[in-house]
Amino acid sequence: MSDAEKFWDKSAEKYSKSKISDLASYEKKLAETQSLFEPHMRVLEFGCGTGSTAIEHAPHVKHIDAIDISENMLEIGREKARVAGINNIAFTRNTLSEFKAAESSFDVVLGLSILHLLPNRDAVLKEVSRVLRPGGYFVSSTVCLGSSPLRFIKLIAPMAKILGIMPEFHVFTKNELVSEIADAGFKIERQWHHDSGGLKVFIIAQKIELT
Ligand SMILES: C[S@@+](CC[C@H](N)C(=O)[O-])C[C@H]1O[C@@H](n2cnc3c(N)ncnc32)[C@H](O)[C@@H]1O
Repeated sequence: MSDAEKFWDKSAEKYSKSKISDLASYEKKLAETQSLFEPHMRVLEFGCGTGSTAIEHAPHVKHIDAIDISENMLEIGREKARVAGINNIAFTRNTLSEFKAAESSFDVVLGLSILHLLPNRDAVLKEVSRVLRPGGYFVSSTVCLGSSPLRFIKLIAPMAKILGIMPEFHVFTKNELVSEIADAGFKIERQWHHDSGGLKVFIIAQKIELT
C-alpha cells in the first residue's frame, strides 16, 4: 500500500464528516460544471473522495466512473450513493493511469482538489486529454500556493508526509498550472479563484478539436 493510500484511508471517516467551507463557491462550481452536462454523457472523476460531488452530478448525466486510491473513501461514497438512490456511479479503486480508460471515451473529466497532491502532473494531464473526446471538458479545482507566502510549505511538506500528518503536496502557481493544462491540448474556458486568499483555482478547459 502506498503512503498516499494509507494517509487517505486513515483520513476517510473524518473527511466525510468535514463541512464545505464555502457553500456559495461550491454551488457555483456545481452549477458551472452542470452547465456542461447532457443526459447522454459519460463522466470520469479521479480522486473522487467520498463521492459527494459525483452524487450531486449523477442525475444530470448517463454514467459516472468515480475513482480513488482509497478504498475507505470509496466505501463511504458507495454507501452515500445507495442512501441517495443514485445507481449510475461506479466507484472503483484506481489511479488515473491504472484505470486505463479507452481513448476519447469520456465527455467530461473532473479532478477536484487533487492535482496539487500528485507528483506527475504532466503525465496526469496527458492522460486526461487522451481519455476525453475532442471538444470534451476537463474541470479542475486546485490549490496553487506558488505565489503565496504559504509556498514555503514545500520546505516542511516532505517531513510532514513522512510523519503521516500531511499527504504528498506540490507547490506551483496558477499560471504554471494554466500553461500545463494548455500544453496538454486544452483551451482554457474559465478560471476563477474560489477563496478570498486566491489560492484555490477552479478551471474549465476544453480539449482542442483537431480540424
Ligand atoms: C483532498 S481529497 C479530494 C476529494 C474530492 N475530490 C473532493 O473534492 O472532496 C483527495 C482525494 O484524492 C485521492 N487520491 C490521492 N492520490 C490519488 C491518486 N494518485 N489517484 C487517485 N486518487 C488519489 C485521495 O484518496 C482523496 O480521496
